[in-house]
Amino acid sequence: MRTQTGIVGGGPSGLLLAHLLHLEGIDSVVLEARSEEYVIERVRAGVLEQGMVDLMTAIGLGERLRREGLIHHGINISFAGTRHRIDMHELTGRAITVYGQNEVQKDLNQARRATGRPTFHEVEDLTLHDFAGDSPRIRYRHREEDHELACDFIAGCDGFHGVCRPSIPEGSCTAFERTYPYGWLGILAEAAPASEELVYTWTERGFSLFSMRSPTITRLYLQCAPDEDIHRWPDEKIWDELLKRLTTRDGWKPNVGPVLQKGVTGMRSFVVEPMRYGSLFLAGDAAHIVPPTGAKGLNLAAADVYVLSQALAAFYKSGRRDLLDAYSDTCLRRVWRAQRFSWWMTSMLHLSGDENAFDRRRQLAELDYLTSSRAAMTSLAENYVGFPIIG
Ligand code: APR
Ligand code: PHB
Repeated sequence: MRTQTGIVGGGPSGLLLAHLLHLEGIDSVVLEARSEEYVIERVRAGVLEQGMVDLMTAIGLGERLRREGLIHHGINISFAGTRHRIDMHELTGRAITVYGQNEVQKDLNQARRATGRPTFHEVEDLTLHDFAGDSPRIRYRHREEDHELACDFIAGCDGFHGVCRPSIPEGSCTAFERTYPYGWLGILAEAAPASEELVYTWTERGFSLFSMRSPTITRLYLQCAPDEDIHRWPDEKIWDELLKRLTTRDGWKPNVGPVLQKGVTGMRSFVVEPMRYGSLFLAGDAAHIVPPTGAKGLNLAAADVYVLSQALAAFYKSGRRDLLDAYSDTCLRRVWRAQRFSWWMTSMLHLSGDENAFDRRRQLAELDYLTSSRAAMTSLAENYVGFPIIG
């Protein structure tokens, strides 16, 4: 089999790239290790920057997003028992949209199916070959049969634990990494959101986040140990801790309801440079991971694949290679800006366990400054709503 771009991974990066390429008349094959249902059901983040909403709209996938997405003009930062609203829209003219990654994934799967171009799920033993040059091949097993896909380019969209990044010869890329001494325990609850906007909360007991998925579903997180055993957290204990952290002095607290799903997520900052080796281009989580505090992961993935689609389109239209050559640098500038922002939000709001009383006072002083200075609020707002993707 032959295609122009072999896409490894059918998550948001892989399928968004596939659709962008389709619109440019470029052929691709998507190879995904898991089943379609598994990829859709996996619970992930849910905040879309304005730029990602604009991109989805521009490529004809904005209809359900516009109908069901919850547009938020502000966020709340809570500490010392008080919520402070940051009006991002007033400060930047832009907003965010709460729309679960699962919903984005469903829209992308449907769009891919409608193109009639191939996606193979549950592929096994996938390996990359000859990608130092310009005739790369991908070998894999599907339905008990061995296959080889010859392509012009390979897009490594297979997430942090995928095979593409580790296939790059040692010494050709550099990894930059930081792990954090905490994780997030997250739940989805059948409860109407008690606030119209997100609440990021600093407390002496640790960080907590109030978010949502829909008018009937609340999403909540609390800071926990990085290797927290979820079995040690019966639902009552989770609610007890969430209410302790989130309740504010004016009596505001999240509505309690049946827990639909729960899990623990680790926190990591990771970047590999460059995001390319020969004809292999890494995109999304395969190239970088951010801690979830800034809600940047999915948006960065979308920005990567947009840049890649434009570079591939220029190559196929006019043989130009300059945009392909610039791919890594173009993406990395946004990636590092988001890394800086996610690290900053994370360190401001979490307790690492080794800080002293001075560090806590410093965190509170930073939160006080952030919520009382227009300049500081604008800086947060500008980064949170994100920078344009199309342009
Ligand atoms: N072969 C084929 N597919 C693979 C392989 C492999 N060897 N290894 C992993 N995959 C698939 C995974 O099953 C997954 O569906 O690649 C996909 C990668 O998807 P994600 O992990 O969601 O990564 P990405 O598409 O880059 O999405 C951006 O940023 O912060 C996050 O939550 C955000 O997950 C979102 C991500
Ligand atoms: C979420 O709703 O899952 C969410 C929101 C904001 C974040 C992270 C996760 O920063």
